[in-house]
Amino acid sequence: MRYVYFQTFGCQMNVADSNEFGSKLFVRGYHPTEDPSLADLIIVNTCSVREHAEQRARVRIGEYARMKKKNAGLWVIGCMAERLGEKLKKEIQGVDEVIGAKSVGSFDAILDKVLTDQGADNEKDTSINEVSDFISIMRGCDNYCAYCIVPYVRGHEASIPVEQILETVRIKVDRGAKEITLLGQNVNSYLSNGIDFPDLLYKVADINGLERIRFTTSHPKDCSDKLIRSIAEIDKCCKHIHLPVQAGSDRVLEVMNRRYTSATYRERITLIKSCMPEADITTDILVGFPGETDQDFHDTLDLVRDVRYTTAFMFAYSVREGTAAAKMSDTVPEEVKQQRLRELIDLQTEITKEMYADMVGKQVELLISGRQEKRDRLWMARDNGCKRVLIACDNCKAGTILHAEVVRTSGMTLICERNRT
Ligand code: 5AD
Ligand code: SF4
Repeated sequence: MRYVYFQTFGCQMNVADSNEFGSKLFVRGYHPTEDPSLADLIIVNTCSVREHAEQRARVRIGEYARMKKKNAGLWVIGCMAERLGEKLKKEIQGVDEVIGAKSVGSFDAILDKVLTDQGADNEKDTSINEVSDFISIMRGCDNYCAYCIVPYVRGHEASIPVEQILETVRIKVDRGAKEITLLGQNVNSYLSNGIDFPDLLYKVADINGLERIRFTTSHPKDCSDKLIRSIAEIDKCCKHIHLPVQAGSDRVLEVMNRRYTSATYRERITLIKSCMPEADITTDILVGFPGETDQDFHDTLDLVRDVRYTTAFMFAYSVREGTAAAKMSDTVPEEVKQQRLRELIDLQTEITKEMYADMVGKQVELLISGRQEKRDRLWMARDNGCKRVLIACDNCKAGTILHAEVVRTSGMTLICERNRT
């Protein structure tokens, strides 16, 4: 028996890529293991979006290099592998293969080349079957936001053909998936044979047995009225929109090359709220972009106060070599960035608490994802938006959909009780 261990850093697209890579290894005779010291092959899927993510990956790869079995392989894949290439082998002793993010489409060819001497002993694809699964519907990004490394490491935008997506969803549903998340750097610009993203949502929603559809990430510049109205109209679409704003100042948005203004962004939010008053809206915000003044930062705080996001991912700007922003001179001192980040996080944390507290007493629809390990009557679930749920339940199983009442909150989790019907 040969074992493979995966460590995945970064976004859900990386998780999807690891799963795809994993399924291709499984058909070639590898079995998954949770213990890197037992693995014959260790694969680290990396993220380059911030310096910190790369630093964490470097440390972990070094640890694996020291702990791995004699003759075990150590492969680095993903965005950092694309960015640094063969240099990684010199930088970290013990790395055998470096496979960049642009090679996702050629996983089979690469494995055939690298694993020449090994025959398959698995008859079929034994990829892990999840109640909540995800698939990439497009790859790459053509937006070139000034701060972002993604277009350089993931390459140009390419939409996956509709039939291929529908077939993958059908296979996953046949294996027990109830919820599918459609992934792309900018799903709103999906286009294949005249089918745009809203059209695709309707087609996916037609698949029998699929209960819920999620997607991420949306770019505000491409978040059309048609898309918002489609999400509202399609029952299977979860009412959660992740709409990264990045900044609230028009001047900063312009230099970032985001191609919308604070006013047009707010207008999108107004339409979302009017079509779907219950929807969770979440975002990404970046503070300390070159040239960001106190006034610019206050524009961001004002926007956050007005929109009232359920939650937000908030980051201090990190210089990525090769991007347009890396050449900008008017940098914000590190301590100012950190101070702004703390202030923003404090504000959003307050709003998140209030948004969660407002849920108490409300009815929610839940999809049970699995048992909470620590306490055996408790099950983990997600509501129809983005919120995590815990519910006590005797005859639940993963995949059950039920209605429940929110009785209290615990941090960022809703505690629910089952309706007596
Ligand atoms: N520094 C900090 N955050 C960044 N992001 C992208 N590039 C950078 C960077 N250079 C953030 C953006 C994006 C999220 C995935 O990561 O907010 O939406
Ligand atoms: Fe990066 Fe902008 Fe593309 Fe998102 S849309 S991946 S932030 S370049």
